[in-house]
Parts: sequence; C-alpha cells; structure tokens
Amino acid sequence: MSTVTVFDHPLIQHKLSIIRNKDTGVKEFRELVSEVASLMCYEVTRNLETEAIEIETPVGPATVRQLAGKKLAIVPILRAGLGMVDGILQLIPSAKVGHIGLFRDPETLEPVKYYCKMPNDIANRDVIVIDPMLATGGSASAAITFIKEYGCKSIKLMNLIGAPEGIARIQADHPDVDIYIAAIDARLNDHGYIVPGLGDAGDRIFGTK
Ligand code: PRP
Ligand code: URA
Repeated sequence: MSTVTVFDHPLIQHKLSIIRNKDTGVKEFRELVSEVASLMCYEVTRNLETEAIEIETPVGPATVRQLAGKKLAIVPILRAGLGMVDGILQLIPSAKVGHIGLFRDPETLEPVKYYCKMPNDIANRDVIVIDPMLATGGSASAAITFIKEYGCKSIKLMNLIGAPEGIARIQADHPDVDIYIAAIDARLNDHGYIVPGLGDAGDRIFGTK
C-alpha cells in the first residue's frame, strides 16, 4: 500500500487558507500555488540519494555531499498542474518536465487525454506527477498508468487538496505510488468537485471563469 503524507506545516496551511478563499484573485492564487508546491517539494525530495565529493573551499579541502543517483522529472497534468511547475523548478532547476494533457468529461467525470510529451529518458528518472486537485482520482490514475507505459519505476504524486475517494483510487490502482498532499477534504459533491476544496483549480490559475 502506498503511503500518504499530509503536510500540516503552518506555512503551507496558512497559504492554503488564502488559496481556498473565493475572494483571492488570480495573481495571488497563482503565486501561492507555486509557493506551496515549492515548500512541498522540499519534503517530497527528502530521500534523494547523495554522494560524497571532494572540493576546495577558500579555507581548505572539504568532503561535501551532492545529489547522486537517478535524475528527476516532473509531470504536470494540464492545465492546473502547470501552476506548480515553477515552484518546483526553483528548487530543482535541472529537472526535466513532461506534460500530459487530460480534462475531465463533465458528464462522466472520466479523464480524456489530449496531449502528451515526455522526456526521452523518462524511464531512468524519478518522476513526480503534479496536479493541485485529486478528486475522483481518475485523472491522476490515468496519468500514472500512462507514465508507467514508458517504463518508469519510481513515481510520486503531489497534490494540494484531495478527497478520500481520490486517495483510495490511487492506492487501489497504484499501490507503488506514494501520495504527498497538503490537505484531505471531506468529500466530493454531485459534480465531482472537492468540498470545501478551492473550486476549479485550472480556472482560478488561468482566470478562465
Ligand atoms: C482538474 C484537476 C485534475 C482533475 C481532478 O482538471 O486539475 O486534473 O480535475 O479530478 P479527478 O481526480 O476527478 O480526475 P480539469 O479536468 O478541470 O482540467 P483543467 O486542469 O484543464 O481545468
Ligand atoms: N477539479 C478541480 O479543479 N476542482 C475540484 O474540486 C475537482 C476537480
């Protein structure tokens, strides 16, 4: 069974409270989604391997540690996942970025794929799939299934807000994928929106409503 890490850090919870507020405008919303992604990235990458190297400081030789092992790729689920990319790249500027375009059919709530472009060497990278919302879990599960078809063995999922239904779906479909999330809300409404959630993440990031 995959693990679920819920971020109860005060800075993340404070920023999330502003993101959730319906009166928060698009500029502040976008900035805060990026900031929270950055803060979460710090913890999601906690177990990256490091290796000892020898350098010279101005004062003398030193054995220091640098990142080793497999490289990272982040895969935002379009559109809303794009809002988390810059925050992560600020911490991991050399990460490669794959894109997968999915939208939820409003009637069936099933994900529909319309775009995909992955780094050539994604099979050899640790992958972090990012999307602010994990509602039914259909979009994230489909994205992860697709990424696995490239041969990826190490995949993590990072979301801002999830519903219990979405968590259960990922754990059932992908027990090997750990979930990192800032909040787990009460439920989904009849339209598949997370309650209380934050509304439509893509519309709020891009100002399309
Ligand atoms: C939203 C969100 C997720 C998906 C979550 O995207 O960003 O990708 O819904 O719902 P699910 O867990 O039930 O699949 P949406 O389909 O609204 O597309 P958008 O990002 O382009 O607005
Ligand atoms: N997608 C969103 O953007 N918000 C929700 O609450 C559910 C799916």
